[in-house]
Amino acid sequence: MNIKMKTDVLLGLQWGDEGKGKIVDFLTPGYDIIARFQGGPNAGHTIEFNNQKFVLHTIPSGIFNAEAENIIGNGVIIDPYILNKEITRLNKAGIEVKERLTVSNKAHLILPTHRLLDAVYEKAKGKHKIGSTLKGIGPAYTDKVSRNGLRAGDLNSADFEDKYKKAKERHLKLASLYVTDTGDIKIEGFTFEEYENLWLENLSVIRGLNVTDTAYLLNKAAASGKKILAEGAQGTMLDIDFGSYPYVTSSNTTSAGVISGLGIPPSSVGRVFGITKAYCTRVGSGPFPTELFDDNGEKLRSEGREFGATTGRPRRCGWLDLPALKYAVMINGVTDLMLMKTDILNGFDTIKVAVKYRIAGKETSEIPFDMENSKIEPVYKELKGWKQPLDGIKKFEDLPAELKKYIAFIEKETNVPVTVISTGPDREETIFRK
Ligand code: GDP
Ligand code: IMO
Ligand code: MG
Repeated sequence: MNIKMKTDVLLGLQWGDEGKGKIVDFLTPGYDIIARFQGGPNAGHTIEFNNQKFVLHTIPSGIFNAEAENIIGNGVIIDPYILNKEITRLNKAGIEVKERLTVSNKAHLILPTHRLLDAVYEKAKGKHKIGSTLKGIGPAYTDKVSRNGLRAGDLNSADFEDKYKKAKERHLKLASLYVTDTGDIKIEGFTFEEYENLWLENLSVIRGLNVTDTAYLLNKAAASGKKILAEGAQGTMLDIDFGSYPYVTSSNTTSAGVISGLGIPPSSVGRVFGITKAYCTRVGSGPFPTELFDDNGEKLRSEGREFGATTGRPRRCGWLDLPALKYAVMINGVTDLMLMKTDILNGFDTIKVAVKYRIAGKETSEIPFDMENSKIEPVYKELKGWKQPLDGIKKFEDLPAELKKYIAFIEKETNVPVTVISTGPDREETIFRK
């Protein structure tokens, strides 16, 4: 198939929650199709406009633009209960979903027992727990890779019920290896039985959507000149291969995931938009070299309202980490950087940036194999803060000189231009530098 139009990619360069939802929504008017390529409802993508706030977990962030088609690609995993909740919430706000959403028949389903197993495995890990969102992500991807999964396309097959029962039995056996009683495990606030009933009821929602081979759909669309934006979930440092393993999610959150998660060829990828906050956050366990435990950390959390969009957990906060950012730029082939939440640094006299790591007395700019036990000491450079609000600034030229210096510093270090600067959560609070 002759690709007329390249597919652009937008993904997180840190530990997730960089502001992907906001920017996908902002960029959507320039695209015909927005396609999620990996992850599942562990994602929480926030979009704000006209004093309204939405959090999307499975549905692509293009849904607020009536012209855009939205695709849930084969690399995504779906919980029918959560998807239905999202659709209902959007419908209530007057946003039509059904006609504008297409689901890959190869996308795997998250079963109630995947969620049970997620909880059981986390408990068994004790103090080494991953800090999973408990959405069943690890167990569902495990079944996919071990060739035991159920896919959206299986929903209409005659033996679906039988396959479901077998999977459930297998999962319950597995769970019994770890715990004698799963009775106290709640899913979305429900007992397992209550949740399973809701889940089974909600299968009809997926059956009622357009479920098809989205690889054909996307390749044909690109061949006919349609513009596609691939929307990532999580972030590079949570990638199953390249992240801070084992404290990662279970999918390829990086550019590589776009190819396998949508079924488009590498040669069809165009720009790679990499999103980073002007500082760092992480939710859940695992190494975080620039994490702050002082007043500055607290200030970032309170000013930045750093609480998880999916779980409500407080996010851990710290300074920008250039070794990690440069690594993410390299792994993804980032062509454009988008710098988010610059307004959160408005009140700081000085801003620190980790330019290197010191490990066992030696300085390095590379990420070590074992981030957890390497005793990483960040080497900081201090930059002057701008100490002024950014409200109402629409043009790059009008940004404070110190913020422009901060941006220029990041560009020099990463060798990638910063083309978007975000100064607030609203769609309007975005500066696009042509
Ligand atoms: P995502 O998972 O990458 O889509 O990011 P989340 O939605 O989980 O977290 C980003 C949070 O920051 C959301 O609450 C956004 O509304 C908010 N946000 C995004 N950009 C900005 C910004 O430039 N400034 C401020 N103050 N908030 C922002
Ligand atoms: P978005 O798309 C931030 C984290 C969890 C946990 C680890 C594994 O909103 O950026 P999982 O449930 O995937 O097994 O959890 O990954 N995590 C995220 N952190 N943003 C996300 O998504 C995340 N999705 C998963 O907190 O540490
Ligand atoms: Mg999020």
